[in-house]
Amino acid sequence: MHCRCRIFRDNVIHPSIVSVHGGFFITHHHLYWRYATQKFDSTRKISPRNFDSLLEVLRVAPSSYGLQPWKFIVVVDQALRQELRRYAWNQPQVTDASHLIIFCAFKTIDECYVKNFVTRIAKIREVNRESLSDYEGIMLGSLKNWTSAQLSHWMHLQVYLALGMFLAECARYKIDACPMEGFESKKFDEVLDLAQQRLESVVICPIGYRAQDDRYAKLKKVRFDKNEVIIHLR
Ligand SMILES: Cc1cc2nc3c(=O)[nH]c(=O)nc-3n(C[C@H](O)[C@H](O)[C@H](O)COP(=O)(O)O)c2cc1C
Repeated sequence: MHCRCRIFRDNVIHPSIVSVHGGFFITHHHLYWRYATQKFDSTRKISPRNFDSLLEVLRVAPSSYGLQPWKFIVVVDQALRQELRRYAWNQPQVTDASHLIIFCAFKTIDECYVKNFVTRIAKIREVNRESLSDYEGIMLGSLKNWTSAQLSHWMHLQVYLALGMFLAECARYKIDACPMEGFESKKFDEVLDLAQQRLESVVICPIGYRAQDDRYAKLKKVRFDKNEVIIHLR
């Protein structure tokens, strides 16, 4: 399926068009177009402008309570990417894609983080901090009730949500991506010194442009039928 629209040919969002139409929506075309890219064209780089727009998606992604228990690490250094590849089953996407992003979750969330977050809400929304005390109490209560394993699981779920939005946005820009769990998280954490920052790697995502001879691009999607995955309760 070829798109004649200039915006997609150029892979650039033209502000003039956005203002007329109020933005572009992801369509089924984008979802069929995307696939987990196995072979990237290492000579093609994402423009800084488009890359910046993609990062904005990560910044505004939703999270439970809005707590954003994540960081997204952009690994630029090629030697470092080479080292990381060793701990990712030697998958070439790690070094060959235009950019590599490591999706990280906090190791834990403490009371201080929640309190600072509430202070930020009060400031941004220009409301009295006192008016948020119930909300603060609910958040602190939840966090206290969870075991560290439950807390960690919850934070990982938030990171995956950001990944999902990110993949959709990449597709909308016709930027290829390969979400990857096939890596040794502990080794990545060591190499990137993540414990020091109280972070742990959850999932990684190389992005860029597919190589013309990536045979996976032509494979049909394997998905269950709608009636197998959607349940209507009438
Ligand atoms: C969380 C997650 C982890 C994945 N890990 C890898 C991976 O390590 N290596 C890889 O080549 N593909 C990986 N994939 C890609 C999936 O195999 C692929 O998305 C799936 O087969 C569906 O195909 P499609 O995305 O091309 O439509 C991963 C996908 C997801 C969502």
